[in-house]
Amino acid sequence: MPAQTLSVAILSGKGGVGKSNVTLNLALSLQQSGASVLVVDGDLGLANVDVLMGFTPDGTIWDVLQGRMTIDRVLHTDASGLHVLPAASGTGQQAQLDSKSCQLLLKTLRPLAERHDFVLLDLGAGLSETVRLLARSAAVQLVVTTPEPTAITDAYALLKVLGKAHHLDHFQVVINNVQDPEEVSLTRTRLLGAARKFLQVEARLIGTIRHDPLLQEAVCKRTPLLRLYPDCPAATDIAAIAKKLKSLRRKMIAEGTISPCLSLRTRKPAGAAAPATGASTAKTTATSAAKATAQKPPAQKPSADSGRKPAATRMSGTKSGTAPRGTASPKKQGF
Ligand SMILES: Nc1ncnc2c1ncn2[C@@H]1O[C@H](COP(=O)(O)OP(=O)(O)O)[C@@H](O)[C@H]1O
Ligand SMILES: [Mg+2]
Repeated sequence: MPAQTLSVAILSGKGGVGKSNVTLNLALSLQQSGASVLVVDGDLGLANVDVLMGFTPDGTIWDVLQGRMTIDRVLHTDASGLHVLPAASGTGQQAQLDSKSCQLLLKTLRPLAERHDFVLLDLGAGLSETVRLLARSAAVQLVVTTPEPTAITDAYALLKVLGKAHHLDHFQVVINNVQDPEEVSLTRTRLLGAARKFLQVEARLIGTIRHDPLLQEAVCKRTPLLRLYPDCPAATDIAAIAKKLKSLRRKMIAEGTISPCLSLRTRKPAGAAAPATGASTAKTTATSAAKATAQKPPAQKPSADSGRKPAATRMSGTKSGTAPRGTASPKKQGF
């Protein structure tokens, strides 16, 4: 039977853009709509999903990896049935896992993950090897950014590194903390448009979340926003994204395109069947990601990359010529 569990890695270039709140509230919304959901706190050095939910973990993923506790013992189940695997914070040592430890972590998580409809991995910010490997293990990569230029620049760097070294060429993007609709169109141009044009990766806007002081209040009260203020603007926006994720899962199940849950399968470069496009080869390892220059989104002039074959012509499921370019509004695809 084709895989049914949709694993989603929640990522950002810059920290503090709202990943953990988005993860948790997306999970709650999915759970409320009848899906079974596992949240994995994958921010192994600065975990805080437990803080946002208001519980103190008995143990963490690290205890499981060390063989001190079983995964069932560490698993937290909240009143709605949402399952959460907490991680440790502030202990430093386990913040970064090498490839072997990541493999062990994924192998440990897989049997539990496969019992759920969705697995949401709340990852740390940035481009560490741990983040890159865990991101690659998921079927969907969801990048959270805010409209701030620094967040956009870092998100672009993330797309570039994951695209080049890990051959990921489809991303879902959430623009969080939006105060003005104009910010959305600017972010579309600067991030989604630039990624398509210069990196040949398809970044699709799955949703936007308004700035909402009630979210900050929920954080302070250590109660998830969807519980505290289910009808407030940010909660409504997050619920809309959850609905799209559900549609995406249904579509991927129907097409049989959900990749095996939490596996670090080797990905071929997107242009493998076609003549070389300048992208890295399949032999590229995680190490080479560190070498990939995480440059800023090009301001005006097309880079050397822009001479490549357009992404639309080499991405599966994307019709040639129909994909948005440059400053045009990205056509929503995939659900
Ligand atoms: N939509 C929003 N409206 C208002 N404040 C927000 C919003 N999203 C995030 N924040 C603020 O950003 C802070 C950081 O969010 P968090 O989810 O912990 O980010 P990350 O996991 O990316 O580090 C929150 O505590 C909150 O104060
Ligand atoms: Mg976080």
